[in-house]
Amino acid sequence: MHTINRRTFVKAVAGTAALAVSEPRAATAASSGAVFLSTWVQGKAANERAAEVLKSGGTLLDAIEKGINTAEDDPNITSVGYGGLPNAEGEVELDAAIMDGTRHRAGAVASLRKFKNPISVGRLVLEKTRHTTLAGDGAFRFALQMGFRPQQLLTPESLKKWLEWKADPKHQTFWLNPTDNHDTIGMVGTDGKGHMVSGCSTSGLAWKIPGRVGDSPLVGCGVYADDNVGAASATGDGDLMTNYCTSVSIVHTMARGASPQEACEELLQQMVKTDPANRSAEAAVIAMNNRGEIGAASMQKGFHLKYALWREGQSQFLESVKLY
Ligand code: GLY
Repeated sequence: MHTINRRTFVKAVAGTAALAVSEPRAATAASSGAVFLSTWVQGKAANERAAEVLKSGGTLLDAIEKGINTAEDDPNITSVGYGGLPNAEGEVELDAAIMDGTRHRAGAVASLRKFKNPISVGRLVLEKTRHTTLAGDGAFRFALQMGFRPQQLLTPESLKKWLEWKADPKHQTFWLNPTDNHDTIGMVGTDGKGHMVSGCSTSGLAWKIPGRVGDSPLVGCGVYADDNVGAASATGDGDLMTNYCTSVSIVHTMARGASPQEACEELLQQMVKTDPANRSAEAAVIAMNNRGEIGAASMQKGFHLKYALWREGQSQFLESVKLY
């Protein structure tokens, strides 16, 4: 990969950087200890759990997996795991991926039904197989084989919402008539020794066409981690963001000398450069380099990313820069 130094990079994206001056950039302080960065309100509990796991002797992969489990287990989070809103046929289909920046390998599941912890199933795809991604029925049978217990993932609340959607004669569908009902948990972390992991878990778009796979379980899109550089994750319209390979693009931009914040903004700007209509896209990204410096950015104010940061024992909830 062509390498440029940070000064050259900053010059190259100077126009970009000028766009979001009204808000502070993500904290850039390097860190000598563990750092966890996660999307949305569910990120705070996830980071805190991850920090506990690492402190009690778990690996960074354990920490990210168990951190994400907190969101998957929470029935009140309607975009992840148990209680996630279902597809158009009333079935919850979950997507997740976890990537180890040391081995440069990931494990992922897509369209997984009946198991509330897809990140843990993805972790076992990574640890127990030579594959990277299992989908649908194969993912279901793999989870069974690994000892996970199938269960109903609809809660009374998510079933009620699906029935209301179904009963509405004007209900929106995804046959080229998008709705705006999604987010996810994306998480990146370092152990403070240069090891990086990225994880992501979601129930995807509510009322999606069955079998639809978003960005979250796709390596390079929802997750990417490389110990030589850093890690990134994404949240938002996975159908759109898959086409920009968001997370790998951000990590490669960091590899060319950009800070995590610059790399996040550069990715969103690239989306607008190729299609100005993306100014109104629901797209947000987080990134961290292997020194523990972080970045976070949202495309626009209607999808303004709130993110959680855990660093040196302190757990914070922050707002990202928004470009438009
Ligand atoms: N970013 C989550 C999804 O669109 O499935």
